[in-house]
Amino acid sequence: FSQSGYGLWLDYEKVNDASILSDYQNQIRSVYFLGESETLNLAREELKLGLNSLLGSSIDFSSTNSNNASITVATFDQLERKTQRKLKKIDIAKDGYYIGHDSGKIVITAKEDIGILYGVFNFIRLLQTQQPIDNLAILDAPKIDLRILNHWDNLDGTIERGYAGKSLWKWQKLPKYIDQRYIDYARANASIGINGTVLTNVNANAWVLTPSYIDKVAALADAFRPYGIKVYLTARFSAPIEIGGLSTADPLEAKVQQWWKTKIDSIYAKIPDFGGFLVKANSEGQPGPQNYGRTHVDGANMMAEALEPHNGVVLWRAFVYSEHDATDRAKQAYSEFVPMDGKFKENVIVQVKNGAIDFQPREPFHPIFGAMPKTALAMEFQITQEYLGFSTHLVFLPKLYEEVLQADTYQQGKGSLVAKVIDGSLDNHKISAISGVSNIGSDLNWTGHPFAQANWYGYGRLAWDPYLDSETIAEQWLRSTYSNDKDFVKPMTDLLIESREAVVNYMTPLGLHHMMDTDHHYGPGPWVSELPRPEWNPTYYHKADSKGIGFDRTKQGSDAIAQYADPVAKKFEQLDQVPENLLLWFHHLPWDYTLSDGKTLWNSLGIHYQKGVDQVREMKKVWEQMSPYVDPISHKEVSMLLDIQLHEAIWWKDACMLYFQKHSKLPFPKAMEKPK
Ligand code: GCU
Repeated sequence: FSQSGYGLWLDYEKVNDASILSDYQNQIRSVYFLGESETLNLAREELKLGLNSLLGSSIDFSSTNSNNASITVATFDQLERKTQRKLKKIDIAKDGYYIGHDSGKIVITAKEDIGILYGVFNFIRLLQTQQPIDNLAILDAPKIDLRILNHWDNLDGTIERGYAGKSLWKWQKLPKYIDQRYIDYARANASIGINGTVLTNVNANAWVLTPSYIDKVAALADAFRPYGIKVYLTARFSAPIEIGGLSTADPLEAKVQQWWKTKIDSIYAKIPDFGGFLVKANSEGQPGPQNYGRTHVDGANMMAEALEPHNGVVLWRAFVYSEHDATDRAKQAYSEFVPMDGKFKENVIVQVKNGAIDFQPREPFHPIFGAMPKTALAMEFQITQEYLGFSTHLVFLPKLYEEVLQADTYQQGKGSLVAKVIDGSLDNHKISAISGVSNIGSDLNWTGHPFAQANWYGYGRLAWDPYLDSETIAEQWLRSTYSNDKDFVKPMTDLLIESREAVVNYMTPLGLHHMMDTDHHYGPGPWVSELPRPEWNPTYYHKADSKGIGFDRTKQGSDAIAQYADPVAKKFEQLDQVPENLLLWFHHLPWDYTLSDGKTLWNSLGIHYQKGVDQVREMKKVWEQMSPYVDPISHKEVSMLLDIQLHEAIWWKDACMLYFQKHSKLPFPKAMEKPK
């Protein structure tokens, strides 16, 4: 059972390094744990489980006897009250914690109970990753307020773009039946600092807002609450018609406003800490305020007003594009939303996908980031791998997230990082949020691919601290999940870090994008050109013809580049400055265009596709050597998945290069293996 992957990064195995183990055992003999509450009780049980398992011995826990306890755990207030002495003030921010030493003993403290739980999980992580604990002074707190998972789960149990089984939510058994899995899910999320979950698909079903479903949602909220997790729902804009019996959902109609107010009040009567709504409106056929000639501001503010007295928020998505504007889909969200800056209520957060198209293996950061200073903007990342090989391909996404978060928008001069837009520090926002489209399902190992767990984990860690580097995340995940052995950690960290570039290389190198096959979005389809909406066709994006390839977004083309702040725009506009990995995102170039390394564009394309394939081959080789450090079942599973990944990397290379060759009419570069 322990080999199924169910335990995620929280299977606490005994420390296997004898000297580190004895050091820990010497330093940790007993715990003085103060306080009782649902959350504190969970923290105590977690610490017990962690210490007993990691140290392989039973640690004494007491709530009365502080004498010589090696670890004291208590909120700051409790600590002062019990010790009857004024302690040096530590400025612990909301949800934060402090782990340090006091008179040679370890102290874990926080302002709130949830901070204690986070502190405990972080202390356990130190032991799991075999870090020294003799001189601790860790003051830590999340930099983003709302750290949310977006489940795209339907009420019938299916999941849109979910590749790891069915939905976790057993609606038919709720509210009375609380699956143990809900608790395990909440625990895993709390361990990485996630504090919110949107239970339902953005393509929403109004039924979830009916009283019997709200009872079910309330039961889930009760199960998650001790772990500090709030529930949110997606709100279908036309719900007043579908379940309310009204003839309109016009946000400026008093009866519609009243309907939402009554609905929201009734939700809070059952779920006092309900998080709020996530809304996809006037996007891909979903209803919205524009159906009534109103704007996104009208729609979002109507809901925000009803949520405000309860401290609820509206996460209003900016993922909009229309078939009626044929020039460039990448420009549409910015054009529509930026003029509305300053008009949204304070409890509206506009949720923006990381790039302007749709969760591609590589996109430049979305130009909206930094361009709406008067609006709180949430980042939306996709954890589920809709365009990156589902749960079959091994791709470490924190590398992608880091690239976006670290991008400099220059909207307020150098250093205006996307991370600062998201954490609210660039424009001093009261509220900040980040969302990750979940890759979790009912599969025994939660995420389908054992390594897809790293993407859930890494998303959570970056939601807590968007400045964390992906290498640290990779290393900590590997150590917590598999092994601390340096012969495992080093090569596997390198493998994870490289895996993202590998997928870019074998799917969409040099800034290509949206080349997947129709509907399922799996596998290559660069030839697809007949779909009814022009911007759904891959040919719309790569624009390959006998002369060349790429989307011209310069002044001569769609001018999408103008949506970026000046130094960024200049860089993207100029061929000698544009990053090569975004070249064809911004430029249409001849096949014989010479790149900085002297190769022609055509040859370079082939070489990149080949490199992607070679990188997967290398991943396979490295993994084969890892069997001493990994349980045999996981090892075999990942080996089989890597076989498929290699096969499909070759498929992408061959399909794309054969297709492009029909246009370029050029021979494949020598370094490229010929398609069979
Ligand atoms: C993509 C995805 C859809 C999803 C949409 C969204 O288009 O393919 O399944 O509904 O994004 O984010 O709203």
